Amino acid sequence: MQLTLTLSGSVGMQLLLLVSNLLLWENVASNPIASVSTEDLYHRLVEQTHNTFILAADVHSEFDLNFVKSRMSSWLKDRIFPLCHTASIHTPESRKQVHEIKTDELLKAMINVSISWEEPLNHLVSAVTALPGASVSMQKKAVALKDKNLLILEGLQTIYNRTQDNVEENKNFGYPAWSGLEDLQSSDEDTHLFAIYNLCRCIKRDMHKIDSYLKVLRCRVVFNNEC
Ligand SMILES: *[C@@H]1O[C@H](CO)[C@@H](O)[C@H](O)[C@H]1NC(C)=O
Ligand SMILES: *[C@@H]1O[C@H](CO)[C@@H](O)[C@H](O)[C@H]1NC(C)=O
Repeated sequence: MQLTLTLSGSVGMQLLLLVSNLLLWENVASNPIASVSTEDLYHRLVEQTHNTFILAADVHSEFDLNFVKSRMSSWLKDRIFPLCHTASIHTPESRKQVHEIKTDELLKAMINVSISWEEPLNHLVSAVTALPGASVSMQKKAVALKDKNLLILEGLQTIYNRTQDNVEENKNFGYPAWSGLEDLQSSDEDTHLFAIYNLCRCIKRDMHKIDSYLKVLRCRVVFNNEC
């Protein structure tokens, strides 16, 4: 910290911002997440999932604005929307189900969703980066979305591990594969764009789920259901 005091102007400010960014997620000192209390992990993680859902919604709406709305109004109309690749992961559908499911089971389902987005998000970033007419803002948000998913995964796994006496258990973690690569890389423009659209639609949906579930869990674990 002394270093930042001797610097003035924008460099000092940037350094300060950098330091506070790091502090947001981890202790700059050694062994970051492990030393954070579970309560604080929940608070930080909810902040992350909330922001990440907003990012996903932004990417979705920017794509909608620049690539869907500018097309014929019928472009999406008669489509059959494929199931999201995470659809097979058992997650609660109603408020009642959310309240009935055990904490570690729900965490495990969220980890499952997060892991199964690793690969498709990498490809979404490549697709959006190469997409003619995509705004710089949308490209940056797609990259941020990919990075945030990894942070969220780390946070979820840390909390999940603390709920387990025997962490060995989740070694062979099976998760649903994504099979949309061929469409995403298709040279047919329509197929290509529809594949991007579906990824945007599904990540928004899944981030919304993760954010909602985590808020319920934080309420349960941190506030004894009094919220
Ligand atoms: C993740 O979801 C898939 C698809 O339903 C399931 O086969 C797999 O067992 C789940 N993995 C875990 C660890 O829950
Ligand atoms: C959680 O436990 C598993 C299994 O031991 C381990 O592979 C993983 O690195 C742990 N993750 C975190 C974030 O602590």
